Amino acid sequence: MSIEYWEKRYQQTSSDDASWPDVGARFLELDFIERNVPVDPGSVLEVGCGSLSIAASPLLRAWIAGTSYAGIDGSPVAIALASVRAHELGLNVQLNVQDFEAHRELRRADFLLCRRLLCNLSREARRELMNQFVKFPHGLMIEPTKDGLKELNAARAHRNLPPIPEAEHNDYLDEDEIRHFKSGRFNHATALNGARQVNDQHCIRETRFMSPYYERTRAKEELGKIDQQWRYEQARLAKFEAPGLLGPVVGFAW
Ligand SMILES: C[S@@+](CC[C@H](N)C(=O)[O-])C[C@H]1O[C@@H](n2cnc3c(N)ncnc32)[C@H](O)[C@@H]1O
Repeated sequence: MSIEYWEKRYQQTSSDDASWPDVGARFLELDFIERNVPVDPGSVLEVGCGSLSIAASPLLRAWIAGTSYAGIDGSPVAIALASVRAHELGLNVQLNVQDFEAHRELRRADFLLCRRLLCNLSREARRELMNQFVKFPHGLMIEPTKDGLKELNAARAHRNLPPIPEAEHNDYLDEDEIRHFKSGRFNHATALNGARQVNDQHCIRETRFMSPYYERTRAKEELGKIDQQWRYEQARLAKFEAPGLLGPVVGFAW
């Protein structure tokens, strides 16, 4: 179901982010990736790379160019768009169609990158993906969560704004899945270090994103009224100013 949705979406818009009007939130996620990637990562695998909107973004492009990058996505149209983009930008990358629901083996890499993919997968497939994720030496995963959305909507209700629903094609992560993922990573780090106990923070860093723009509007008509630079600036500030809020999206880096 999800792949059909994405195939249509890429055919219509050529974009991963067409229903995502909050560039502030997107900026927060990109910024988190940029700050958490290893300087010299070796090989990189991105699962659900789409049309390379993350990897080829101005913030990450130079970093990607210094790696051996492979991107996989279940949508052939996305991979075709990604190839064109990589060619235009002179990026030497390997791109392949792989539907993770059907083929669940991931190739080896030193660093794994994944943004907003799991919410498109069945519970079974994402549990399998999480189990594989934790075995990569380093990685970064960004996903929207159910509790974060609830909290976001509580903040919006205070402003008399209507709740934002989960998109039809999505199933956001719940807290049990997040615990499962974190405990898997913790066990992995402990195993790597033999008997020595490794604390959770050492093996995984977690950030919750809350963009004020997303909290306050997310109405399309507001887009024309709010200057893009303002949204970037607010997003930058929000990183440090929303400690009590869960935020709709969680990022893990290890
Ligand atoms: C929200 S987009 C994210 C794209 C990119 N990672 C980004 O952050 O801009 C979700 C991507 O997951 C891909 N996808 C959905 N289901 C998939 C599956 N079963 N196997 C592989 N990719 C899948 C879609 O084709 C789409 O490109």
